[in-house]
Amino acid sequence: MDKTAEIIIDGKSYRYPVVVGTEQESGIDISQLRAQSGHITLDDGYGNTGACRSNITFIDGEKGVLRYRGIPIEEVAEKSTFVETAYLIIWGKLPNQAELRRFSDLLTENSMLHEDMKQQFEAFPANAHPMAILSSMINASSCFYPELLTSEMKPTFDLQSARLISQVRTIAAFAYRTSRGLPIIYAKPDYKYTANFLHMMFSHPLKDYELDPAAVKALDLIFLLHADHEQNCSTSTVRMVASSRANMFASCAAGVCALWGPLHGGANQAVLEMLDTIHKSGDDGSKFIEAAKDKNSGKRLMGFGHRVYKNYDPRAKIIKKACDDVLEKLKISDPLLDIAKKLEETALKESYFIERKLYPNVDFYSGIIMRALNIPVEMFTVLFAIGRMPGWIANFKEVMEDPSARINRPRQIYTGPALKHYVPMKDRK
Ligand code: CMC
Repeated sequence: MDKTAEIIIDGKSYRYPVVVGTEQESGIDISQLRAQSGHITLDDGYGNTGACRSNITFIDGEKGVLRYRGIPIEEVAEKSTFVETAYLIIWGKLPNQAELRRFSDLLTENSMLHEDMKQQFEAFPANAHPMAILSSMINASSCFYPELLTSEMKPTFDLQSARLISQVRTIAAFAYRTSRGLPIIYAKPDYKYTANFLHMMFSHPLKDYELDPAAVKALDLIFLLHADHEQNCSTSTVRMVASSRANMFASCAAGVCALWGPLHGGANQAVLEMLDTIHKSGDDGSKFIEAAKDKNSGKRLMGFGHRVYKNYDPRAKIIKKACDDVLEKLKISDPLLDIAKKLEETALKESYFIERKLYPNVDFYSGIIMRALNIPVEMFTVLFAIGRMPGWIANFKEVMEDPSARINRPRQIYTGPALKHYVPMKDRK
């Protein structure tokens, strides 16, 4: 029998259906609540609000489970690549050889920016944060392809997605190069996605950057592990913007802005800065842990804690191992890795972190890998955005293809002044 939930308000009973997902997670469908009772639900920070039905990514935060289209992240990380994973996330299935080839070709063909966009990079001040450049340029790029912005999404969807996934990488590399006063380097048609990003970042016009397979593999893994994470802050932003029927570029540019904050994607930059500060102060991490436990210190252990995971973030486990592997292969010894490990070890024994179920998240070790690859710290969140693009696009697609989708428009409980009247200037105190 279908389950229902009863809500009693002022002695009157209302019944609502309980919606159950594939993995038995359940939610009360209160969409008729206001119409029937005059009440809304209030859920600051949306911790208990399901904003949509989605069939892209499944997370069980209690058990530390993450699956893309049903496939465990551990399997995807071991067997797939970022490009194949992007296909899986967007189109809902692993591609066959011909589909993967077509998608890879589309990515290659669409890696170049419109030439006129190049001047716009020069208009940003030299110290502009690359996340600001990234969101502006993704939005700007829609102006150069007006033919893609039809309200009928189907005919251009594949091209739009490939262009966005390919160009976000080009924009990121160009933003870095112009911020350093370096000449722009174009993608090479015979390089794969991640190798091309490193090439565009670090090659010299007269000398190609020497690609180390260990570095390429580690970066590809970072992109893959960030590819989707269900209804996080930036993805919900993308869905919110898409719900107004804004185009894919505008929706994903908004996602970049949401990702920038240090509580979300900006945490990877914040972690590295935290580790660096601890290192420079001569602390082994113990003093910082004490500060992070003290609410008045204004400090948090960045890269720890998660709204959904109340267990070890499965991505953090994979990244921690990759971090050890890549540093060993590249023969790098990084004191910040020692500090990170010491912080983790200490925190996981502390009652403060145990009681609140705070574990390392995806951002805790990823920065150390990126540092080993010479990626500057201000680019860390940009790399998160490159990785997250398939997830944003898949969520955008879900919104656009849902025949029952409505514009997202939450309600509020108003707490401002009750009715009062306009006071002319001469009568104001
Ligand atoms: N260091 C110290 N205390 C913490 C931390 C932390 N990193 N995270 C949470 N807490 C405490 C918090 O003070 C609160 O304590 P109390 O119950 O005594 O008031 C309790 O744990 C619950 O925290 P919350 O802020 O209510 O939890 P939230 O679900 O609203 O926030 C979070 C989740 C990720 C924003 C938070 O854990 C945090 O700020 N972490 C550090 C930033 C970070 O690493 N962000 C990356 C998240 S993973 C990448 C992504 O997908 O965005």
